[in-house]
Amino acid sequence: MEILGIDIGGTGIKGAIVNTEKGELVTERFRIPTPKPSLPSEVAKTIKAITQHFNWNGAVGCGFPTPLSHGTCKSVSNLHKSWKGVNVEDLFQKETGLNFTAVNDADAAAIAEMNFGAGKEKNGLVAVITLGTGIGSGLFYNGVLIPNSELGHVSYKNEAFEKYAADSIRKKEDLSYSKWGKRLNKYFNHIELILSPDLFIIGGGASKKLDKYRDQIKIDAPIIPAENKNEAGIIGAAMAAYVQQ
Ligand code: BGC
Repeated sequence: MEILGIDIGGTGIKGAIVNTEKGELVTERFRIPTPKPSLPSEVAKTIKAITQHFNWNGAVGCGFPTPLSHGTCKSVSNLHKSWKGVNVEDLFQKETGLNFTAVNDADAAAIAEMNFGAGKEKNGLVAVITLGTGIGSGLFYNGVLIPNSELGHVSYKNEAFEKYAADSIRKKEDLSYSKWGKRLNKYFNHIELILSPDLFIIGGGASKKLDKYRDQIKIDAPIIPAENKNEAGIIGAAMAAYVQQ
C-alpha cells in the first residue's frame, strides 16, 4: 500500500510517499522549513502544502516531535507552547480533509528501523536514539513498541539531557566530534544504567557520522547506525498509519 509519510522536526517538515510493504520511498522527499514560531495553525498550513505537493488524497502518517497520547500533544518539547493539549490528528484532518495518524517522531523512526532497518529481527530491549534538534527515543521490547519513552528528557544538571548532548547543541557550540562524543558517553552510560538495553541504534542526521564519535562512547551494549538514516521518520510514520487501516 502507498501512504504519505510526513516527519515534523524542529527545523524541517519532510514528506514522501512510502511503499509500506517494502518500507521504501516511492517519491523524492519534499521539505519545507518548520515555521518560526511553530504555531499549530502555521504548521497545519505547511502540512497542507506537503499534501498538495504530492496531490495526495489517501491516508497520511505523521511523526511529531513531542509525546502524544491518542493524537494529543502531552508536552511541547522544542515546539511552540501553544501545542500543549492540541489533538494533532484532528487539527491536520480539519486543515486537509485527509485521515491522519500521528505518532512520536522517534517512535516512528524506531518502527522503520525495527521493520526494515538495523533492528530487523532483533529481540530483547532495543533503544533507537535519534540525535537531531532534540534527542528522541523509540523503545522496542521483543518486537513491540513501548511508546513515548522520551529518553532525551532524563535530567542532567537540572536540565533535559538533550540540552547538553543533542546534535543541535554540537552545532550551536561548535563542538568537535570528539568533545561531543564525550557528552554522548555520559548520556549513553546513564541510559545503559537505567535500562540495560541489548542494542542501541543511532538515528537522526548524526547517524551518518557515527564513525566520528563512536570511539568516545564506552558502554557494554552494541551501538549501530540506523539504516534508513534521514528517511526512517517518514517511513515509520507511514507504517504507523498503515496499521490503522
Ligand atoms: C521531544 C521528543 C522527540 C525528540 C526528537 C524531544 O525534545 O521531547 O518527543 O522525539 O525531541 O524530535
